[in-house]
Amino acid sequence: MEAKYWISAWDEGRTGFHRGAFNERLLNNFSAFNPQKGQSILVPLCGKTKDLLWLGGQGLKVHGVELYEKAVQEFFSDNNLSFNKDQDQHFTNYTHENILLSAGDFFKLSEGKTYDFIYDRAALVALPESMRRDYANVIKRSLKKGGKCLLVVYEYDQSRMSGPPFSIDLNEIRSLYEDQFSIKLLETATPDREGPKFSTLDFLKENVYVLEKIR
Ligand SMILES: C[S@@+](CC[C@H](N)C(=O)[O-])C[C@H]1O[C@@H](n2cnc3c(N)ncnc32)[C@H](O)[C@@H]1O
Repeated sequence: MEAKYWISAWDEGRTGFHRGAFNERLLNNFSAFNPQKGQSILVPLCGKTKDLLWLGGQGLKVHGVELYEKAVQEFFSDNNLSFNKDQDQHFTNYTHENILLSAGDFFKLSEGKTYDFIYDRAALVALPESMRRDYANVIKRSLKKGGKCLLVVYEYDQSRMSGPPFSIDLNEIRSLYEDQFSIKLLETATPDREGPKFSTLDFLKENVYVLEKIR
């Protein structure tokens, strides 16, 4: 989706993706990272998710990237956190201890910077097909060799609902990532199909994959 779609979604309160609690899929599957304190994690298209706070609490250096600057500011105000603010070429950066949130376009993320882990929840599924390969290329170049990405996606019959969130199946994940990553399914959950959007679906799965960068 274009930037203006997300800016209107935030401005008009169409933020059903935002949860007031830590994500259960993350809590269930975080051990797949086997992390050491001080390692780094990138959270693309992070919104103001509380998961940033939880990941920071695990001793990781967290870097979230979000287009909508007000969401970044709200992350800090909602959680009563102070921040330092600075500006670089593409991003306005907000920092609190080991949490850095960059307000700006994820596709402009520095080519030189790499991370130990990536947490993708409601990021790949937020993008239309035409943007997914470019997105996956940023993910690929941003992960260290041996690094892991936790990928949480929805799978449903796309003909029954227009995204976002879009349906992403294993074939598509393979086509985007298998040239550089091993791909393993960790969990399949069946979320409630509540709300006007999901109610049209005959099935809805939430799949959690771990992708490991092997090349
Ligand atoms: C479906 S929401 C998910 C937010 C978050 N991952 C969560 O779990 O709550 C997608 C987010 O991506 C942001 N976004 C969309 N395009 C972006 C881009 N090019 N760069 C950075 N953020 C973007 C939107 O503003 C929105 O907050």
